Amino acid sequence: MTKEEWLSKLFQIEHYFDTIKNSYPKSDIRDIFLGKKGELTLLLKKISEIPVEHRKEVGLKGNELKKMIEEFVTEDYENVSEVLNEIDITLPSKKINFSFRHPITITLSKIIESFKKLGFSLEWGPLVEEDFYNFKALNFPDHHPARDMQDTFYIDGLFDSEGKNLILRTHTSPVQIRTMLKYKPPLRVISPGRVFRSEAVDATHSFVFNQIEGFYVDSKVNMCDLKWALENFIKDLFGNSAKIKFMPSYFPFVEPGAQVEVSCVFCSGRNINCKVCKGVGWLEMLGAGIIHPNVLKNCGYDPYQWSGFAFGAGIERFTMLLFGIDDLRTLYENDLRILRQVV
Ligand code: PHE
Repeated sequence: MTKEEWLSKLFQIEHYFDTIKNSYPKSDIRDIFLGKKGELTLLLKKISEIPVEHRKEVGLKGNELKKMIEEFVTEDYENVSEVLNEIDITLPSKKINFSFRHPITITLSKIIESFKKLGFSLEWGPLVEEDFYNFKALNFPDHHPARDMQDTFYIDGLFDSEGKNLILRTHTSPVQIRTMLKYKPPLRVISPGRVFRSEAVDATHSFVFNQIEGFYVDSKVNMCDLKWALENFIKDLFGNSAKIKFMPSYFPFVEPGAQVEVSCVFCSGRNINCKVCKGVGWLEMLGAGIIHPNVLKNCGYDPYQWSGFAFGAGIERFTMLLFGIDDLRTLYENDLRILRQVV
């Protein structure tokens, strides 16, 4: 490992820490970064691979981050009583503005609840990704035109171990790879989070949006399992009358691949003037399919022994349908009136 690779990895870990530190209990944060197999612990071990003359420099940087994470996970409420002594708690309080959960958060909670019932657990991945996880291991060969389906943001001056620019992840599918490399099958995992694509903003597009990935790896997983799981989920979200259908589609990391459509939640296909489905009766909601054997192989799983399904969906699209919001931008403008409407 070169000094640059090592530092670039350190940067990623720091970024990952910043991204997730307030979303997990501190004990989990400690495990993720400082545990025996923690991200930082493993990186620090690799110092021995670095040429001696650079070890001191990278060691100092690594220790700085370690200290920062240690302080974060150990700092507790020691000081609370001191602070309380200085505050006059008999003073009248200021007018309180109640906070509300954002419609995207509400939608995400519903989605997570639905999959939890089927035994899916949650995983998270970094927003700054390597080509390997975002593309290569997902069966996008270098220069393959399928890469153009996702206009990618590249980060100047930061490189992965193959010398490729780090990127902002274009989808949540890299979490499939990260999770399969980390754990042994069987696996049932969902992974929500932000993704980034170089797209102009309009009523239905944004350069940053949220996706949820789901995948199940076990022996003999097939398309019926996928259909059943998705139908179950869609009914949970939109009610028992909602239907789904699969249309053939292409994603390099699944075979067969499908685009999953849901019966229009506004008109159920009964209104040819419906603005939401444009009279078609169906809405494109998810990409899905059976995990490609190459992807399993790339993660060290024997495709003759293991099989799986995967799906990915944009959370904003579900939010808009659940709350009857017709412009995506409404979700990002922080207009409190919107938040108050949806509680
Ligand atoms: N990652 C795909 C996308 O963002 C969606 C997808 C996920 C498709 C999983 C199939 C299986 O477009």
